[in-house]
Amino acid sequence: MILGRLTILAIAVGALATCRPPLARDNAPFPPAWRFSPGRGAAYAANAMVSSNDSIASLVGVEVLRRGGNAVDAAVAVGFALAVTYPEAGNLGGGGYMVIRMADGRTAALDYRERAPLAATRDMYARLIDSLPRASLVGHLASGVPGAVAGMVEAHSKYGALPLADVIAPAIRLADSGFVVDSAFARSIENARELIAGYAGGSVFLPNGVAPVRGSRLVQPDLANTLRRIAAQGAAGFYEGETARLIVEEMRRGGGIITEEDLRQYRPAWRGALEGTYRSYRLITMPPSSSGGVTMLETLNILETVPALPPFGSTKYTHLLTEAFRRAFIDRNTKLGDPDFVDVPVRRLTSDAYARELATTIDSTRASQTGAFDSTAREATHTTHYSVVDAAGNAVATTTTINELYGSGVFIPGAGFFMNNEMDDFATRPGEPNLFGLVQGESNAIAPGKRMLSAMSPTIVLDSAGRVTLVLGGRGGPRIISSTLQVIVNVLDHGMTLADALAAPRIHHQAWPDTLRYETNGLAPAVVDSLRAMGHAVAEGRATGLVKAIMRAPAGGWYGAYDPRTTGGAAGY
Ligand code: DON
Repeated sequence: MILGRLTILAIAVGALATCRPPLARDNAPFPPAWRFSPGRGAAYAANAMVSSNDSIASLVGVEVLRRGGNAVDAAVAVGFALAVTYPEAGNLGGGGYMVIRMADGRTAALDYRERAPLAATRDMYARLIDSLPRASLVGHLASGVPGAVAGMVEAHSKYGALPLADVIAPAIRLADSGFVVDSAFARSIENARELIAGYAGGSVFLPNGVAPVRGSRLVQPDLANTLRRIAAQGAAGFYEGETARLIVEEMRRGGGIITEEDLRQYRPAWRGALEGTYRSYRLITMPPSSSGGVTMLETLNILETVPALPPFGSTKYTHLLTEAFRRAFIDRNTKLGDPDFVDVPVRRLTSDAYARELATTIDSTRASQTGAFDSTAREATHTTHYSVVDAAGNAVATTTTINELYGSGVFIPGAGFFMNNEMDDFATRPGEPNLFGLVQGESNAIAPGKRMLSAMSPTIVLDSAGRVTLVLGGRGGPRIISSTLQVIVNVLDHGMTLADALAAPRIHHQAWPDTLRYETNGLAPAVVDSLRAMGHAVAEGRATGLVKAIMRAPAGGWYGAYDPRTTGGAAGY
């Protein structure tokens, strides 16, 4: 079957039209010049919901749920589908994190982040700084050993209900028979044309040198074969045999260092989910090797020292949020890393006592300076999130990435996928800013087999009765943390609807650079002036990540929505 995005959307919209409209919460107080008006709608479904960056992939999730799959089956099916329909970020050649909360109360966090190849060294990029200054970002040396396939297969084998082959079948169908390209897909390829053309991906995505036009059908037979091998053999269909041979052959050809041994040794890691409370809610989120959960909980704990947050968009609120982020990111950038390699003080960083200590250092009338805290603070874009809730109440939050759009650009000929450029998430030169301007320390230095620190923040929020209330996460490097947290606070503290919580303007502060960023027209001019008067270095732009979320509807059922700043699809039944 040929799946066209427009047809599928029409089916989805048709299905949604039969559903009840969302219940009204108060319209959010957005600044007058803000690009989105409040009161937007979200998708609603009575039983189950999937929200992802791609409408076809979301509908694959719904298809699997309707066939009797649970939320984990659907999440894995969406993950494989995104590798076909959303190659800018969906992937087989990257890695990610999955946070699971089963309806019976079990929670789990799966770490399938890429690992540094065994031949990687602490200063491999520092040594190349003159000859290959972008080696951690572009080309064969930029990739960590992919974890995505091992992770999805592992999650499925522990929690899935359907056979693996059934869960991968929709992705195989999409790769084999193709899907109809929409304008967002065509534009994405066009924008990355130079990177893609530099490696083997041009043969698939730039036939005759040009991006596929809207309305044309894109087939990916090599990728379909890779997916078939995974469906038949599980992780061995990727980490051994033909796929592994193709990866290693391309690495050798291009001067990369990933070997058969690296692939054979790759294992995902089950970590206890990181849990914490915020007001009357419980958060279930991702522990290291992602910094997402720790940094969000630390920030939320600081916010919780204030009984009621100041109004959304006010100077007081923006100041408090900024100072909380500043303190949590200082710890993130200096103390966090792969827990298999460094001691990470997770309990202390996420404790209320520590948050109270940090809160006492906030002056309500003056901005702090990052440099004043700790000298080590100075020393010290592509991803996709999707959320699934099934009819039994099982919930899965997954974020996966190849780091930048189309990763390192390297495409595995014969296997049909892009490799990540995740090595840049290490402190490739401790003390120097990376792609996202993050200045990180020794805890995140490169070592063979180590996982690079991430900001991915897949999170499930439970209400005081223990019911799933929100399932969310996002993309955007360190802005994932600040954006996901602001959506949570928008819903829980500011009482916004899910759609307004996603559309609301955001700020970002990551300790270093010591700049409070805000979205254009996202703060009222008078607020910007008063923040400047308090000593904040305020700058417009690069303030936000992109969030996808599901929320429990008060009278039953689920709302699903994606960030209006990007493409996506939320669908349910
Ligand atoms: O793991 C991380 O934190 C980054 N590699 C995420 C990159 C990302 O979100 C890019 N997307 N815009």
